[in-house]
Amino acid sequence: MDNLLCQVLALLGTPASRSIMVEMDNFVKSLQAERNKPTKNMININSRLQEVFGCAIKAAYPDLENPPLIVTPSQQPKFGDYQCNSAMGISQMLKTKEQKVNPREIAENITRHLPNNEYIEKVEIAGPGFINVHLRKDFVSEQLTNLLVNGVQLPPLEERKKVVVDFSSPNIAKEMHVGHLRSTIIGESMCRLFEFAGYDVLRLNHVGDWGTQFGMLIAHLQDKFPDYLTVSPPIGDLQAFYKESKRRFDTEEEFKKRAYQCVVLLQSKNPDIIKAWKLICDVSRILFNKYIPTLLALLVTFVCFFPLGFVQVDDGRKIVFVPGCSIPLTIVKSDGGYTYDTSDLAALKQRLVEEKADMVIYVVDNGQSMHFQVIFAAAQMIGWYDPKVTRVSHAGFGVVLGEDKKKFKTRSGETVRLIDLLEEGLKRSMDKLKEKERDKVLTAEELKAAQTSVAYGCIKYADLSHNRLNDYIFSFDKMLDDRGNTAAYLLYAFTRIRSIARLANIDEEMLQYKIYISHYSNQCLSSLSSGEVLKVNMWRMLLCEAVAAVMAKGFDILGIKPVQRM
Ligand code: ARG
Repeated sequence: MDNLLCQVLALLGTPASRSIMVEMDNFVKSLQAERNKPTKNMININSRLQEVFGCAIKAAYPDLENPPLIVTPSQQPKFGDYQCNSAMGISQMLKTKEQKVNPREIAENITRHLPNNEYIEKVEIAGPGFINVHLRKDFVSEQLTNLLVNGVQLPPLEERKKVVVDFSSPNIAKEMHVGHLRSTIIGESMCRLFEFAGYDVLRLNHVGDWGTQFGMLIAHLQDKFPDYLTVSPPIGDLQAFYKESKRRFDTEEEFKKRAYQCVVLLQSKNPDIIKAWKLICDVSRILFNKYIPTLLALLVTFVCFFPLGFVQVDDGRKIVFVPGCSIPLTIVKSDGGYTYDTSDLAALKQRLVEEKADMVIYVVDNGQSMHFQVIFAAAQMIGWYDPKVTRVSHAGFGVVLGEDKKKFKTRSGETVRLIDLLEEGLKRSMDKLKEKERDKVLTAEELKAAQTSVAYGCIKYADLSHNRLNDYIFSFDKMLDDRGNTAAYLLYAFTRIRSIARLANIDEEMLQYKIYISHYSNQCLSSLSSGEVLKVNMWRMLLCEAVAAVMAKGFDILGIKPVQRM
């Protein structure tokens, strides 16, 4: 995936330096290292060339310590397939040792020391000392054939490994908002990447806030629908219902007290209160399911077996100090209720002990990193896991900002509801398609599919192509720009490749043949001005197919659904 995907993107004319690619590259590299063998179907050409040039440089300059080893895909075909750009750096190094050697000479020296290998057809020295590498056609052909026959895949893991990914995690009493967007997008993509790498993935939605928020909602439910136990309460607008109860919670002291009592009753599983809770969950779940049908809503049981001796009582609260952490965990509040700390500890134990996870990853905003540090430290202190064996980590991310670089808000200053944001995305992508008069070419169905693919694809891609840890500026204009580093651009490139196969009338089966390269030609198809296809260049077609396969896999991992036409 790694190098090939970058290659393909370079091939399509977009810069290959994107953070998701870099992360993917590192991920695949570490996987390969872990499995202690290169992948059969997809080898990392770049690493292989680095090995070859590493040997050559060592042989040519045995006395140099850590000479620079730079191998990159070439940006233009006339510079070959790859380039080794080490000569300039080596020349600098030699200069510090009072040796003045022209980089071109160094490049020549390196090429003279190249070991025998199965990858390189020929090398040329260009410019100040670049070494242009042309790959052997039979080697490339074999790689391509593998790719086309076996698909884009990694070798299986030596032993099954399980990873639990906690992501999306909205608050059940409230509607999802833009803050949940990044966790959902990043988390889902991580899961797909792990699945691609052969892991058993358990997606967990740590549905939060069934404490105070629920106490409020239940107390309010008791007042507004006193007969809720027998007659199903018609809560249509949960958001409004929540706002009313929140207003009462903030202003009526009596109500606040009752809300807290409801929490304690809820946590001690009082049947009437559980019933009220379930009713509200049902209303809430209808909303969630509308947006993310595949997410599994798993509620955590609020039971935490904390060994005695760790716990201190402070002002009626039960707290735990964890070595190395300045902030204690609150396990039980003074009114007997449990907290976010309690539920996360209980949840972590469940994931480690019952789910037997080899990795647990929390895709939650950076703001909560302290919370997770303490939770992880506590779990290690109790002996629930050993960080040398099990990886438990917080994959944090920055907040979503508006184009004014301030926290993303609606014009009236409210939190942006996720549904509104997605709907605006849909509207804008349709406007864009119409502006390009695609509505005149595509069927109504195709247009609709393109609209959804572009809208959701762009939102996801924009998020994933930024550094996860930084704050990120949400801009529809930028993410829908079909000339930029956007999903719109890539999705369009994909349809262009697909349309070539369509024009040539080639079906999938025909492309499965193992074909060796006899010659390069730049055209896939030769056609008459009437559009009739005269000649199909099978080799070029296969190359297109391979590019499409890699792109499709890339889209799949990023959670983007490409279309055949747009
Ligand atoms: N529901 C929380 C929120 O909206 C995030 C939960 C993250 N997961 C966890 N295990 N704490 O902020």
